[in-house]
Amino acid sequence: MSESLSHLTAIEAEARSAFEAAADEESLKAAKAKYLGRKSPLEAAFAEGIAKAPPAEKKAFGIAFNEAKKRLQEMVEAKERALSAATPAAGPALDVTLPAASRESAKITPLPRGRLHPITRIRRDVEQIFLSMGFGVLTGPEVEDDYHNFEALNIPKDHPARDMQDTFWLEDGRVLRTHTSPVQIRAMERFRPPIRTIAPGRCFRYEAVDATHENTFYQVEGLYVDKGVSVAHMVAVMETFLKAVFETDPKVRLRPGFFPFVEPGFELDMACVFCKGAGCSVCKQTGWIELMPCGLVHPNVLRAGRIDPAEWSGFAFGLGLNRLAMLKYGIDDIRLFLGGDLRFLERVG
Ligand code: FA5
Repeated sequence: MSESLSHLTAIEAEARSAFEAAADEESLKAAKAKYLGRKSPLEAAFAEGIAKAPPAEKKAFGIAFNEAKKRLQEMVEAKERALSAATPAAGPALDVTLPAASRESAKITPLPRGRLHPITRIRRDVEQIFLSMGFGVLTGPEVEDDYHNFEALNIPKDHPARDMQDTFWLEDGRVLRTHTSPVQIRAMERFRPPIRTIAPGRCFRYEAVDATHENTFYQVEGLYVDKGVSVAHMVAVMETFLKAVFETDPKVRLRPGFFPFVEPGFELDMACVFCKGAGCSVCKQTGWIELMPCGLVHPNVLRAGRIDPAEWSGFAFGLGLNRLAMLKYGIDDIRLFLGGDLRFLERVG
């Protein structure tokens, strides 16, 4: 290395140490003026070096000087940013005893208002309706044991009905509950009949996601146990509920459905609220919307809840809350609920 070049390098090193040592904005400013100003030792070394350098080396020396200067400039800028971030911005002293200025007079843009998620809204509505009919509201764990999610619901191990719901299994043998029906068992373990309760909550299934299926969705379980409970009681409760939700007189029908924990089991359909039964895209031209599976509580399930089926009977249902929200608010894709898109929440809100 030529003597001029090593001089340049030494000055750069000296400048770097000075910038590094600057502990506040003031001392950095001084170091910057010294090493990057017009009369800096770097500029002097350059002027001297370029004059002395043989013609063939002038270009390389010029480049070395420019690069050293650029490195130092970058270092100073980085340090300036770091120091100003660490220094609190000076402002007028804050008198916390003064009355607050109105947002208008202070010319502050109004804050956007938050909204309840449509699932929260519909869940609250459903809870209010059932509370008004004398039901209570229970919750249960989302991580369930095999016994409550399956066995006590009359789905023993190796029963083919286990395949009806694709299950997320945990390593310890527990599951992410596939439905809210385990809360039926927990309710019977906790309370003596008569029992009238609903249990809203999150469920999980290992399913391919599409416009009508999610791997995380919401159900509302219903359980009614008393003396002499029949299908007629169940239909009456369902009709009262649907009338309140859709603010119209709903027409319902029952079709047979199989669930191991009810006997007989049904699928309850509601005449399409959009086309009034004439047929449209929502009801796939059938005039009916499949709304909730239900049925009379199976005697084995009552026994699992230490309730004598000779004395008591009951009905249960499992309402898909996402589906209900989609119908009520005209949402055509279930994936929107968990998509986190604020535009969706604003439109529905
Ligand atoms: C059940 O889960 C039963 N436990 C319901 C039941 C309770 C029957 C009490 C009898 C007595 P099913 O798998 O059909 O049934 O689910 C009930 C509702 O949950 C469906 O009608 C649907 O609205 C909703 N649901 C089920 N799977 C999904 C999914 N992957 N995504 C969104 N909603 C779903």
